[in-house]
Amino acid sequence: MAVKKEAREWYKEAVFYQIWVRSFADGNGDGIGDLYGVYDKLEYVKSLGVTAIWFNPLYPSPNADFGYDISDYCNIHPDYGDLDQFKKVLNRAHELGMKVIMDLVINHTSDEHPWFLESRKGGDDNPYKDYYIWRDEPNNWDSIFEGKAWEYDPVRGQYYLHLFAKKQPDLNMDNPAVREEVKKVLRFWLSMGVDGFREDVINFISKKEGLPNGIGFLPIIGSMHNYKDGPHIHEYLAEFRKVCDEYGAVQIGEGPMTTVNNALKYLSGDTKSMDMMFSFDHMMADCLFTEYYHRPFKLIRFKKALSRWQYKLADKAWNSLYLENHDHPRIISRYGSEKFHRESGTALATAYMFLKGTPFIYQGQEIGMTNIRLKSIDDYVDVSTINNYHKYHLKDTVEQRLRRIHLSSRDSARTPVQWDDSENAGFSSAKPWFFVNPNYKTINVAAEEKDENSILNYYRRCVKLREGNSVLLYGDYREYAHDNPFVYMYERRKGRTSCFVICSFTGQPITFMLPKGFAGHSAKMLLTNYPDKRVTGRVGKLPEKGLKLSPYEAMVIKMKRV
Ligand code: NOJ
Repeated sequence: MAVKKEAREWYKEAVFYQIWVRSFADGNGDGIGDLYGVYDKLEYVKSLGVTAIWFNPLYPSPNADFGYDISDYCNIHPDYGDLDQFKKVLNRAHELGMKVIMDLVINHTSDEHPWFLESRKGGDDNPYKDYYIWRDEPNNWDSIFEGKAWEYDPVRGQYYLHLFAKKQPDLNMDNPAVREEVKKVLRFWLSMGVDGFREDVINFISKKEGLPNGIGFLPIIGSMHNYKDGPHIHEYLAEFRKVCDEYGAVQIGEGPMTTVNNALKYLSGDTKSMDMMFSFDHMMADCLFTEYYHRPFKLIRFKKALSRWQYKLADKAWNSLYLENHDHPRIISRYGSEKFHRESGTALATAYMFLKGTPFIYQGQEIGMTNIRLKSIDDYVDVSTINNYHKYHLKDTVEQRLRRIHLSSRDSARTPVQWDDSENAGFSSAKPWFFVNPNYKTINVAAEEKDENSILNYYRRCVKLREGNSVLLYGDYREYAHDNPFVYMYERRKGRTSCFVICSFTGQPITFMLPKGFAGHSAKMLLTNYPDKRVTGRVGKLPEKGLKLSPYEAMVIKMKRV
């Protein structure tokens, strides 16, 4: 088999760590995570083996959506520090060999952004008049976070569009002046030395001409086809790509609900504007719009979604790999098992870290943080959690509705990082801005540092195994046993060498019948999450009568192929 040569852009061999700064580490003792705290923890981040950091929005913001409502694109939120402190973090990260990317949120701003304050005034010779999307009459679109997608503004006497919360008016990207503003923002951060951007809901920025009504009876989705992957999206993104290319910057698009075929248009060919995209498909193995529709996790759905992206992107484009971020609750509580905390945390890591693509690890994921279960909806702070609680399933009991929130709220991913078992989990010397998960006494960085077999040290092993391994980095993907509801098995193959990943997704011990041709084959154990049962580095024969897997057992084995 011929070995294909692939371009070696840095991001393909990178592992990213995602920092949602407000809950990462508080350095100045006010209960809010900040860039002083980040600076102090950079060596820790580096110790994971990661080579790049993605910062969620750090900009000034009224925090209606915790930073995704920006009021100044070229500054740092005073809660987090200032531009000088950011530069210190950036330089130190670079010294440690880690790239840094920022979050670029250009679908909308805050309603407190000076552009919006000016735009509200209207007036024919007002240069900001058409920076946003204004109409005399709203259409029937739903917003994603807060009721209908239009809000009446008494100052201007018109409605403005907000696909997200009311305090997040959508920019009018059809206006060339707005696109010039975006380019200025790109240049501002790139000339400071940042290495690229994660681009928020980037597939929403071009709306269908005339803003036609959506299919009214389908909540949210019924409106979405009018603004998702819209008519001018690739033209606009080409303009931004040109600026990023001047600096060699990486661009990673968030593509909610985009199909893999549409994603390919962003990722390859003449319309290529992104280096990677975040797919949502595998996040729907247990839900559709989190609080709206929740169903039990099904491994088959998860495998199908991952395989679809692996196969379709194969030699055409590059995948981004993630299980958690600030928008999705904790993965052990969703796809794993809190009872088998260590086992399922490590199995989940194994399942996604060796797919073809670039892995992202979200703060706290590496120690297996879990969902928080607050007693009342009034304790939650996320705009989407609160509004969806009051919008959907109103006939259910309070307990049933809260249970849904416990399963699905974004706030579960936003509790302070658990650094040690001291007060406030070592996150802050003051009362933290949000609830600390009470399990911090046992689940915390300090405890896991001391335990050779912790989830934390397992993540380090995964990162290390991937490092420089051409099979795991560039090998072709193939899924096996795709209809097995308990086991995820895939191969990464380059030339005659293959690595096989086998992960059990059940708390029951099972016997997994290896696919035809595997029994009796000699294989080397590269990684195991059951170190008492199997030996890393050992070469042995694969069993004839099925592989006995303990609860959530996972392994990576290497074999020669003929
Ligand atoms: C996606 C971001 O990840 C999410 O946190 C945010 O609320 C929405 N986009 C709106 O900006």
